[in-house]
Amino acid sequence: MEFGCLLFLLGSSGVVITQSDTAAEDTDWSDVIVTSVGRAVTLPCVDWPLMGFVTINWKRKSPGMHDWKLVLSASEKERFFGSAAKAYMQLADSNFHKTGNFSLRFAPQSEDEGRYSCLISQQKKKLREKIILLVILTVSVFPSSPVPQQSTLLLTAEVSPGFAISRVTWLSPGGTPLRMAKTLGVVVAKLPQIRPNDQGKYICHFHPRGNSSTPLFPFSVDVAVHGVNVVSFTNITHGVLKSTASVSQYPLTITCSPKKGDYVLLYWRPPDKKSEITSLIYEYDRWRDRTVTAQSKTTPQLSLDGLKSSPKDGLFSFLVHPRLNDGGLYICEVFLDDTVFSQRTQLSILQVNAGPSLSCLVLTCQYTERSQVKQVLWKHQNKSRTLNWSALNPGRLSTEVVLPPTKETAGIYTCSMELKNGLKIKAVYTITLPPKENTESPGSVSPPYPESNSTSFLPSLSALLLLVPLVAAVAGVLLLRQKTLSRRGIEQSLSHYSGEVENIYENPEDVRQASPQSSVYMDLKPRGDDDVYKELDRSP
Ligand SMILES: *[C@@H]1O[C@H](CO)[C@@H](O)[C@H](O)[C@H]1NC(C)=O
Ligand SMILES: *[C@@H]1O[C@H](CO)[C@@H](O)[C@H](O)[C@H]1NC(C)=O
Ligand SMILES: *[C@@H]1O[C@H](CO)[C@@H](O)[C@H](O)[C@H]1NC(C)=O
Ligand SMILES: *[C@@H]1O[C@H](CO)[C@@H](O)[C@H](O)[C@H]1NC(C)=O
Ligand SMILES: *[C@@H]1O[C@H](CO)[C@@H](O)[C@H](O)[C@H]1NC(C)=O
Repeated sequence: MEFGCLLFLLGSSGVVITQSDTAAEDTDWSDVIVTSVGRAVTLPCVDWPLMGFVTINWKRKSPGMHDWKLVLSASEKERFFGSAAKAYMQLADSNFHKTGNFSLRFAPQSEDEGRYSCLISQQKKKLREKIILLVILTVSVFPSSPVPQQSTLLLTAEVSPGFAISRVTWLSPGGTPLRMAKTLGVVVAKLPQIRPNDQGKYICHFHPRGNSSTPLFPFSVDVAVHGVNVVSFTNITHGVLKSTASVSQYPLTITCSPKKGDYVLLYWRPPDKKSEITSLIYEYDRWRDRTVTAQSKTTPQLSLDGLKSSPKDGLFSFLVHPRLNDGGLYICEVFLDDTVFSQRTQLSILQVNAGPSLSCLVLTCQYTERSQVKQVLWKHQNKSRTLNWSALNPGRLSTEVVLPPTKETAGIYTCSMELKNGLKIKAVYTITLPPKENTESPGSVSPPYPESNSTSFLPSLSALLLLVPLVAAVAGVLLLRQKTLSRRGIEQSLSHYSGEVENIYENPEDVRQASPQSSVYMDLKPRGDDDVYKELDRSP
């Protein structure tokens, strides 16, 4: 079978044979005979003993046709062929009228599939009719043996007519059933990254629908794996480099390929590294349902995203809850048969922390994978206010808020980051004034939360300010009175807060797809080119 043809079939491999696919065809046959093209079979029709003068008619009905056509008609006296006859179709026993053995024997071509009826009549009176379904099974292996190591082995069983299938299974040499993709009439099993110990006899078990004197037909193929040769994937398509960013701890999807694949390899290069050395951190083979991860404390913690993709069907993407240092370069390679699709994604992570020094609160904005960052700046909601900032280390921008906060200094502090491709994300930190009636409490600080790009996604200022004291009350640790506000305290409250935050923060990708009517947002972002807080971090 042509490889290109198989690719087409796999493209729709999600289709599973269901009752409705086949129910249209009556199982009006009493027996099933399975063979392959060119392999001789006997369609049995035996009626013994028969008295007197009988006529035997073999007729045939092709799949999808309504009419029976005569193959041959024979009696003791005469024998003639009908329109459906082929020169190679013969009665198995020339003495049929004596032995009662009316079987038809031939080596079929692929178009000979379908129903065969053996009708025995006597003086135009029907004595007996038997319908036999002839099934042609074609089993193929790609690439041909010996298979180079690491190639994707393709085992195909094509059943014709397709409605004859009740079940087909492929078994490994060790007897384990293989995962399969089915379309009507075709069952494909694949074994990617084949190794020498995968070689041996692979068996296809065909179970026919309807009545059959044989419930199971086994067909086997021998697969040898080349001892030395290793496949080289030369057909590699590169996707356009993606450049994206996220606020730390907020889920992010790294998509691999718009097309289906057999298995996926994910490589990662840590952020802000000059060298291009990547390490393999995740591997998933959907045919073997095998996952191999090389994750450690220093590598990103990620998993296959089962919501935005369907790994079991070959659509792969990864879900990351990134930490600051999980930025960097991700290379996702999706293998389909002998082709590879490679997608590179450069990821920057933005993270805001707050830590008190003696008399002030230091708001720090950190970010990674700096080479793709255009600018990062701190802003206050009052755009007439000038913020003092410092950028002593690359990827780190701090601004100080004198404590206790005043009417002037309270409010929303936004760290916004813009990538060279124009993508903007923000993380926001809110400082609220203490309630007037309680002068003991000098104020509270909300945990940082992210906010998305050019249009702002705050539900509304008042709603936000309502939220903050609530969270502060629950978290407890956030009151500024406790000068020992630790980084840990912030992180705890951050995770506590995330339930609400998730409604506010959205992945820029999602936002672009969302209809503008679906939510009401208020834009709090200061606008205009005369913006006084200009802070560019141009570190490479
Ligand atoms: C199939 O087998 C059942 C049980 O042996 C029998 O009742 C039925 O008539 C058979 N159907 C055909 C089409 O031969
Ligand atoms: C009918 O004849 C063929 C050819 O001689 C033979 O192979 C087959 O076994 C016979 N069938 C029976 C039931 O005797
Ligand atoms: C590479 O793979 C694609 C997709 O399967 C195919 O269309 C193309 O012809 C292949 N190119 C070569 C050189 O084999
Ligand atoms: C904004 O800041 C400016 C300069 O510090 C100040 O004069 C003004 O009152 C502030 N506006 C608001 C609404 O707080
Ligand atoms: C910013 O820093 C300068 C110099 O250190 C200082 O004079 C000024 O008062 C500071 N401004 C604010 C708003 O803190």
